[in-house]
Amino acid sequence: MERNEFIKTCGYACIGASSIGMLLQSCVSNKSITANIENENLVVPISDFLKDEAYLKYIIVRNNNLRFPIYVFRFSENEYTALYLQCTHQGNELNAYGDKLVCPAHGSEFNNKGMVTNGPATDPLRSFPIQISNPNILISLKKA
Ligand code: FES
Repeated sequence: MERNEFIKTCGYACIGASSIGMLLQSCVSNKSITANIENENLVVPISDFLKDEAYLKYIIVRNNNLRFPIYVFRFSENEYTALYLQCTHQGNELNAYGDKLVCPAHGSEFNNKGMVTNGPATDPLRSFPIQISNPNILISLKKA
């Protein structure tokens, strides 16, 4: 291979590799945080939804006292949902892909309100009441 041809080939390969990297990075736009529990509420700073001066659609919230993380979806400034990421079929942890939650075990899918959109699961996800108390969102962990 001629030197010029080699450089040209490597250049295209580098451009291709960096484009794929950027594409993958843009797909991974969610954020995972660890939040504190105060008075039976998981305290999530609203500022955790900000990334590059824009609001993320959702974040994943963890705490060592919770067996599974909680998916918090932001519909608007005043409307959020908080869903337990435990599949209602056989209890596996769900993965979040934008506004869709998918179980890697048997393929159940849920929407961002916790409703089943694809079985075998039949029951909706556990959801938690949310109270907005600026500058935080309080997710109530009290048993109903
Ligand atoms: S445990 Fe989730 S689909 Fe079976």
